[in-house]
Amino acid sequence: MIDVLLGLQWGDEGKGKIVDYLAEKYDIIARFQGGPNAGHTLYIKEKKVVLHTIPSGIFQSHCLNLIGNGVVIDPATLCKEIDSVLPLCPDLLDRLFLSQKAHLILPTHRALDAASEASKGEEKIGSTLKGIGPAYMDKTGRNGIRVGDILSDSFDEKYAKLKKKHLELIRQYGGVAIDWEQWEQPFFEAVARMKQLQIVNAEYWLENHIKEGKKILAEGAQGSMLDVDFGTYPFVTSSNTIAAGVCSGLGVSPSRIGDVYGITKAYCTRVGSGPFPSELEDETGEALRRAGNEFGATTGRPRRCGWIDLVALRYAVMLSGVNKLILTKTDVLDGFTPLKAATSYMVNGVETKELPFDLCEKGISPVYTELNGWDKPISSCSEYGELPIGFKEYCQFIEEYLGAKISHISNGTGRHQLIVIS
Ligand code: GDP
Ligand code: IMO
Ligand code: MG
Repeated sequence: MIDVLLGLQWGDEGKGKIVDYLAEKYDIIARFQGGPNAGHTLYIKEKKVVLHTIPSGIFQSHCLNLIGNGVVIDPATLCKEIDSVLPLCPDLLDRLFLSQKAHLILPTHRALDAASEASKGEEKIGSTLKGIGPAYMDKTGRNGIRVGDILSDSFDEKYAKLKKKHLELIRQYGGVAIDWEQWEQPFFEAVARMKQLQIVNAEYWLENHIKEGKKILAEGAQGSMLDVDFGTYPFVTSSNTIAAGVCSGLGVSPSRIGDVYGITKAYCTRVGSGPFPSELEDETGEALRRAGNEFGATTGRPRRCGWIDLVALRYAVMLSGVNKLILTKTDVLDGFTPLKAATSYMVNGVETKELPFDLCEKGISPVYTELNGWDKPISSCSEYGELPIGFKEYCQFIEEYLGAKISHISNGTGRHQLIVIS
């Protein structure tokens, strides 16, 4: 069976930390979508590590790690990441596998991302500018280059053809001043190195492991509200971040899917542009950013902060069939009393618990329910029984509203700062 772990908000819910912890009981961790726009933070022997493409199971020495076909890979970023992780994980290359069907991000994809964002002006998406959108456009436009292509003699020809096309597009955007040689040198060096990695026919590879009874965890990137179909379109990423993405992003059948872990922060953040109904653009928002150290793991940008949005969360739980909730960054809410939770929206004077078609529309405001919260610091609690009553009330309220049980509560950055409930 394949269990799934995914973010329920706008990303950065703490997926890296939780996958690193859960990986102890899995044999394989597999990324199924996204690319180096992801930044998953782990603390390994008290050292901070941010993973962008490598799955977060790499530090559990028994775990194999797969970068699936649904991921888009920037070769230079991947190799840089490998070099930075190797000293902490000397057998990394023995346990890292790449699907031959994963698509490559070319230097010109990154340039196109920048040109596209610049052309949008005020309406820019706030992309991480890693080339994600253009790479997925070439995939669905049937022009992309895949990992398997780097082993073929026609790679250079394919590259030159696609680059030519991209340069024409970049010209249409008004051009960009780029020293291509400087961008291409690390790309080609990394492509050469990638040939030495374990490139596999990942669908069969996974199927064989499943048949052997191995336990697999699919690690989501981004979050459900950034899903290209169901997120706050057009302010989204370019992949399916919900559980459905696992089947197409790894080549496994829906009947193989087991538990679905959904991660949410105990409050809410968003990095980049786009609607965020429960955003706090005041001192409380600032205090959350400070307490939660809310700065992007990939871009360093300050994250926008706000109250937990149960309307959006319930939608995300529904879309992915989440049966296990994981509540993270709960310690950040110490002393934030009272707490608020968005429990419905007013849409042009009408109250609703459904997510509207376009959250960007004016005239949408959240309706809050107030909860007591708690004062006592909770980061040293290791059992549910030790938590303050206000904390338990908050958890029960969330569970009842979402119709799903909390399985883990994270109360600090460390691997073991985690209260296991079920
Ligand atoms: P991801 O993209 O979902 O893996 O999340 P990020 O790594 O981008 O952001 C989560 C941040 O919160 C990281 O800096 C983590 O170290 C940190 N973090 C995770 N869980 C907790 C927690 O329970 N409490 C606190 N205070 N920080 C946490
Ligand atoms: P993890 O896996 C938070 C956001 C960007 C931007 C939008 C589109 O760490 O949770 P893109 O680069 O995909 O074109 O950006 O999506 N975004 C993320 N926000 N966490 C992420 O990943 C994100 N990946 C993309 O900020 O608003
Ligand atoms: Mg992140």
